[in-house]
Amino acid sequence: MSKIKAAITGVGGYVPDYILTNKELETMVETNDEWITSRTGIKERRILKGESQGVSVMGIAAAKDMLAKTKTDPKEIDAIIFATVTPDMTFPATANLVATAIGATNAFSFDMGAACSGFIYALATGASYIQSGMYKKVIVIGGDKMSSIIDYTDRTTCIIFGDGAGCVLLEPTTEDVGVMDWELRSDGSGEQFLHMKAGGSRNPASTETIAKREHYVYQAGSAVFKFAVTNMADISAQVAERNNLNAENITWLAPHQANKRIIDATAQRVGISDEKVMMNIERYGNTTAGTIPLLLWDYEKQLKKGDNILMAAFGGGFTWGAVYVKWAYNG
Ligand code: UT7
Repeated sequence: MSKIKAAITGVGGYVPDYILTNKELETMVETNDEWITSRTGIKERRILKGESQGVSVMGIAAAKDMLAKTKTDPKEIDAIIFATVTPDMTFPATANLVATAIGATNAFSFDMGAACSGFIYALATGASYIQSGMYKKVIVIGGDKMSSIIDYTDRTTCIIFGDGAGCVLLEPTTEDVGVMDWELRSDGSGEQFLHMKAGGSRNPASTETIAKREHYVYQAGSAVFKFAVTNMADISAQVAERNNLNAENITWLAPHQANKRIIDATAQRVGISDEKVMMNIERYGNTTAGTIPLLLWDYEKQLKKGDNILMAAFGGGFTWGAVYVKWAYNG
């Protein structure tokens, strides 16, 4: 009997309408379009506006988009995993809210926090559920409302991040397609370089934490940059090599969209030319767990059955990893 693999059988996505351009940022902090474009590759990002609009709004829209496109009955969904660091609330899990909103009344659902690597962590988890033979339809969502934890007076972080969410549907297959391999890593000593200090159980919200602006992302940009460049490139090369993937047979690199210079370094290390690198950082910026599913959403029409896709991410924790996916359908 052939081994069960988890095929990605559908993709959904959602980005909010509001576009925060580099020009508008110039009016908010001491920065300029030339610096942002040359140092990061970002031109604009999307922002979810409005009262009481959490990341669930985008996750629900992405999941509904995918269900409509794949004509899937939400009652058949077994599990929903939502990768995010900006849940609507600490609890209940945002995935619980999504499950109810889309009518996935037979699903169990939970959130996963692995920052920018969240989607690939959740993809590997969802794929394991499918491979076990216990579950037949798993939705994996990656999304963040980064604007809710960004300090718009800090020019080193506010220029990078944006809001958005994407998702995939995983189903079993015995064909030679699907999630083929992955390698995931973490190193908690990265905490000092990238974190949100308050709001958790160590430093609960208080007037003092608010006054000290501790409910925002702190990032030591250039230190994170160095770790990201090395680790994302190394782990991509590792997964590529052990699967005999190379510049010729890799169809697409789908890298986390944090900084175009990190993306370029990863592509160079694996020997992949620019036209094979999925990129939308210029339009969405860094949506944390949203970047990779939003790439799949944007590129879906260009994808063909059998395409070799190498996904790679690096982020807070530190967490990082690479996933090799053989695409299962023609876009
Ligand atoms: O996604 C999760 C993981 N995160 C990442 O992977 C992000 C990794 N880091 C980065 O992408 C980059 O470090 C940043 C884009 C955050 C910053 O770029 P950088 O090239 O590392 O800049 P830097 O922090 O080393 O700063 C260089 C200079 C400094 O000025 P001086 O000290 O050389 O005079 C900064 O003050 O650029 C200045 N600067 C800015 N200038 C204009 C920093 N931010 C800005 C800005 N506009 N927005």
